[in-house]
Amino acid sequence: MCGGSPRCSRLLADRLTVSYQIGKTGRPFTTGAPLANKRPKPGDDGSQQLGFGLEVLLVRPPATPARRPGERDLQANPQTRMKLQALTSYLPAWMRIAASKNGPDAFVMDLMAGPGIYRDGDTAQGYGSPVNACNAALRVMDWMAKRGREWRCHLRFVEPDADTRASLQAQLARFEGLLDFIVLPARAEDVAAQLARESRGHPTFALLDPDGIVPISFDLISLFRGRPFTELLLSFDAQILMRSPAAGQSKAITDFSGGEWWRDFTDAERQLDLESYMPQLCRELNQVFPYVALQRLEFPAAHANRAMIQLCMSAGGREEWLAAMHRARPEDATVIMEFAADLERRGSIDDVIERLARLAGRTVTYKSILQQLFDVGVGEREIHQALLFMRSVGAVGWTSWLSRHAVPRPRFSFAPEPSALRWDGEERPPDRPAAVRAIAH
Ligand SMILES: C[S@@+](CC[C@H](N)C(=O)[O-])C[C@H]1O[C@@H](n2cnc3c(N)ncnc32)[C@H](O)[C@@H]1O
Repeated sequence: MCGGSPRCSRLLADRLTVSYQIGKTGRPFTTGAPLANKRPKPGDDGSQQLGFGLEVLLVRPPATPARRPGERDLQANPQTRMKLQALTSYLPAWMRIAASKNGPDAFVMDLMAGPGIYRDGDTAQGYGSPVNACNAALRVMDWMAKRGREWRCHLRFVEPDADTRASLQAQLARFEGLLDFIVLPARAEDVAAQLARESRGHPTFALLDPDGIVPISFDLISLFRGRPFTELLLSFDAQILMRSPAAGQSKAITDFSGGEWWRDFTDAERQLDLESYMPQLCRELNQVFPYVALQRLEFPAAHANRAMIQLCMSAGGREEWLAAMHRARPEDATVIMEFAADLERRGSIDDVIERLARLAGRTVTYKSILQQLFDVGVGEREIHQALLFMRSVGAVGWTSWLSRHAVPRPRFSFAPEPSALRWDGEERPPDRPAAVRAIAH
């Protein structure tokens, strides 16, 4: 919080206004103006008064500095613009739900944070994801304060490149004293575990947005598994991914895929067949997060081939994200693939759990369980996952082991009190006979 520091007072004295730009498609461009997703009304300068006494921090930079070598230009990178726009509309929505339904703290981490600002053609600039996240946090803090509740968003930005970090720090300076943010001079893979620990128990949103696919890895993603209200957004270069096998990047793709299984999805030119690889990747990720949504897009004007994967804990979050992507997509971008089969699986397992809750207080056979579920239309794999989950929370226990072939036949005792359970998304290993379990250990 501001706390009346000199730095804060100076910021309060600044009256900055939001400026809007119209993107190439004629739609309002909000990357540099995340506090509104619509055109300003005539005569309206677009500024908004926040409860901190602070007018919106965003301003179109008065002068566009000379081009730096390698500087990213949003006009040449519509995929970056789209990602930023989608995040700009999605993050405040995520934060509001995090703030209103959970405790007073939440974490947002940008694990590959970037420079905080981009050129947008010759005369304009747009803000990067860290600045947009800070603005969203301020806005939601204000929204909560108006409801008489304190909400603290802790922002963590990881950027190993010194020049990029210097740019980012300059962009974030305006939030000093207003927000708890930290810029870490590190590689994401080296600090992710520490950040996962710090944020444990609080709503967490993590953006993993490398230039290619490294350092996204299954191990890194798994650090955030099994946590309520936690969400990861992966944004990566599908072209680089496709070419990784032929480019000798086996380790990178094995890390990214969480195993060597990707080798079954290469073609004669040793390129990944993304059409079949991507759905399998989502299924693998679905073992870590219950909801997985993939979009793969092509931006013909920029010859860009990008993919975004959202890993989250609720169907609502998934819908909200896809809607944000839909709003942000430029007209000339093509959605090559959308994949979210996880919903069907999750829904099926929840249906089984709901139906089995009717057996509360009873002891039944495996056959009676199948009879109870005859019209649910799910496979035994889903039934087993439902039962294994219910056992993990003490809602059911069984003798023998969980199989239609088990000898002696299992008997299932359901706890007397049915409770409204939802599958936690964790894929549990199959139950095995005690003798086999003993050998395995
Ligand atoms: C695509 S940019 C990030 C863009 C930013 N998220 C945005 O939307 O404004 C990727 C950044 O990752 C950084 N990076 C490269 N290797 C990294 C690593 N191992 N860990 C964290 N960041 C890394 C690069 O220096 C680069 O600034």
